Amino acid sequence: MAEQKATNVHWHEGDITREDRSKLLGQKGATLWFTGLSGSGKSTVAVALEGALLEEGYLSYRLDGDNVRLGINKNLGFTAEDRTENIRRIGEISKLFVDAGVITLSSFISPYRADRDAVRTLHDEAGVDFIEVFVDCSLDEAEKRDPKGLYKKARAGEIKNFTGIDDPYEAPEKAEIVLHSDEQSLEEEVGLILDILVERGIITRKN
Ligand code: ADX
Repeated sequence: MAEQKATNVHWHEGDITREDRSKLLGQKGATLWFTGLSGSGKSTVAVALEGALLEEGYLSYRLDGDNVRLGINKNLGFTAEDRTENIRRIGEISKLFVDAGVITLSSFISPYRADRDAVRTLHDEAGVDFIEVFVDCSLDEAEKRDPKGLYKKARAGEIKNFTGIDDPYEAPEKAEIVLHSDEQSLEEEVGLILDILVERGIITRKN
C-alpha cells in the first residue's frame, strides 16, 4: 500500500454530484476490470465492448496496459513492485473516471490477486461498481496467438519476468464475469457483458 506522504490535504467536495453527472450522461459509471494473460484477449474484448456501448449511446473509455505504460506509468517496469504500483495508479484513475460517470474498461494483466482486490476495495469504499472480468485463456492458446511475438522472445530468454513464462499469474477466485476467449466468440463475450451491465442498472436497453 502506498503511504500518504502529503499532510494537511483534504478531499474538496464540489457542488455537482456523481448522481448529477450520471443523470446528464444517462448511465451509471462503473469499472470493468479485465484481467488475464498477455494475448488472452482483454484488449480485444474491451475494444469491441467500447464500440457496442457507443452504438447504444453510452460513453466508455479504455485504459490499457500498453497505452498507460507509454504515458503516466512510463517510469514503471515489470518487477512485482512496479506491477503493484501500475495497478494501484490505474485503480485510482479508474475510480476517478467512474466518479465522472464513465464506464471504464481497464485491461491489465494485473497478475496479483492482492493488487486487484485492493482496487476492488477502493471502489467498494467509494460506493461505486467494480466488475472483475477474468479473460480466461490457456497459456498454450495465448502462446499460440502471440500477437506481439513476446512469448517467443520470453522463451528465448530475451524478456525476463514474462507473465506465464517466468513470472506468476494468479487467477481470480471471485470474478463477476468469466470469459473463455479460446471457446467463446467475441460477439458472445460482448453480449454477456452488456446483459450484466443492464442487470446492474449501469445501462438500460433502449430498444
Ligand atoms: S501488469 O502486469 O502490470 O498488469 P500490463 O497489463 O500493464 O502488465 O502490461 C502488460 C503488457 O506489457 C503486455 O501485454 C506486453 O505487451 C507488455 N510486456 C512487456 N514485458 C512484459 C513482461 N515481462 N510481462 C508481461 N507483459 C509484458
